[in-house]
Amino acid sequence: MNDVLRWRKRLVSEIDGVVLEIGVGSGANLPYYRRAAAVFAIEPNQSSAQRAHSTALRCAIPMSVKIAVAEELPFADASIDHVVSSLVFCSVGDQYRALREIRRVLRPSGVLHMVEHIRPQEPLLAAAASAITPYWSRIAHNCHLDRPTLEVLRNEGWHVRVLQRLGVFVRIEARM
Ligand SMILES: C[S@@+](CC[C@H](N)C(=O)[O-])C[C@H]1O[C@@H](n2cnc3c(N)ncnc32)[C@H](O)[C@@H]1O
Repeated sequence: MNDVLRWRKRLVSEIDGVVLEIGVGSGANLPYYRRAAAVFAIEPNQSSAQRAHSTALRCAIPMSVKIAVAEELPFADASIDHVVSSLVFCSVGDQYRALREIRRVLRPSGVLHMVEHIRPQEPLLAAAASAITPYWSRIAHNCHLDRPTLEVLRNEGWHVRVLQRLGVFVRIEARM
């Protein structure tokens, strides 16, 4: 199991309560949930959502998958204990709107758990990431290599705890 896969497992295996996973893709994290009471997932891509749905059916924990975007979450205010995002904030259309929606649906004690790749810390690498991103994002489903996701979280008033870093990958927990 490579490091990123290990992080994915660590990301979700200890989470309890009601969970919302955004941009679930084909459901790669779903088999690793162990303690959640229920997992709701959203995904804008229909064929990925269908694959996630098939995976969800094989999991012991109640899970459901809806077609939706993070910027417009089809969930009530303060209805979710934990939100999970793995490798999604590089490609969401509007990080700020997505974070406001996540804040809206989280209970006041709720936690946002993320594994994301972010803009490199080293200035030359950050410049290279920005130079490549206009081309890369076109072939990689709007994936940006230069998103300053930690700064965006802090700008929006989240308290960010960095749990692990591996190159441009970070695993974090964020609370309001
Ligand atoms: C690199 S994939 C990661 C999939 C999955 N989270 C994983 O870890 O395997 C990025 C996912 O984000 C989804 N995505 C893109 N824009 C989104 C948005 N605005 N809201 C929610 N999900 C989005 C894509 O459809 C895709 O499934």
